Amino acid sequence: MDQPTLLPARRIGPDTDLFCTHVPLPGLGVLPVNAYLIHALEPVLVDTGIGALRDDFVASLAARMDPADLRWIWLTHADADHMGALRAVMEVAPQARIVTNYLGVGKLGLHQLPLERTWLLNPGQALDVGNRRLLALRPPVYDAPETMALFDTHTRHLFSSDCFGAVLAKAAESAAEVTAAELREGLALWATIDAPWLAQLDRKTLAATCLPWRDLRPQRVLSSHLPPAEELEELLYSSLDSARERTPFVGPDQQAFEQAIRLAEPALA
Ligand SMILES: [Fe+2]
Ligand SMILES: [Fe+2]
Repeated sequence: MDQPTLLPARRIGPDTDLFCTHVPLPGLGVLPVNAYLIHALEPVLVDTGIGALRDDFVASLAARMDPADLRWIWLTHADADHMGALRAVMEVAPQARIVTNYLGVGKLGLHQLPLERTWLLNPGQALDVGNRRLLALRPPVYDAPETMALFDTHTRHLFSSDCFGAVLAKAAESAAEVTAAELREGLALWATIDAPWLAQLDRKTLAATCLPWRDLRPQRVLSSHLPPAEELEELLYSSLDSARERTPFVGPDQQAFEQAIRLAEPALA
């Protein structure tokens, strides 16, 4: 099986760098796992990648800025693919505080992270980072109740956390590179994996939940699991709606999983 790969960090819009790890999903495709760096007056790291690549992640961060100057680590939620290098980053960034909420602090407590390194914020509130405000938002679709997405009022970037993720056939630099059909399928598949409860929502309720996000009119949608997306909002929202009508994802059992791995690695069969 291919191993997760951290790509070199790159600028993907004003003041914003992307750290993308490609994670192979046997039998399904590849899932991007993204973290971002906002070069605000008070620099903000949004999530910290996967644990297996924590040393590479810290080196990549250090190549983009002096981690000693990092002020905030916005943890969109406490899943493993978002907090993999959290401890390692905290060590090289002693000024940085973790932005999360009460439930997030509770979950981080299980990892024995110090309370004085956290900063509590709730959806609807904003964090002033010197030359812009970052609005905390609850996404329409999420897999953990502490999830807080954010909207950068300066760049109009919407960091949507797990919402708008997509399983892709192969890695891509931007969502526009992927055909609309593949993107629609990948978005809907991810949504059924990450938020199986979507199937319990009716169309009207989902549409009403999405309305405040549509009203933000972001310049870019920067999901944790999608290449950067511009001017694709209709496709993003309609894919969520189609996921709502799908049967929730059920993963392969042991036998099917082993077969998928054998197919991916015929030399080891
Ligand atoms: Fe998640
Ligand atoms: Fe995630």
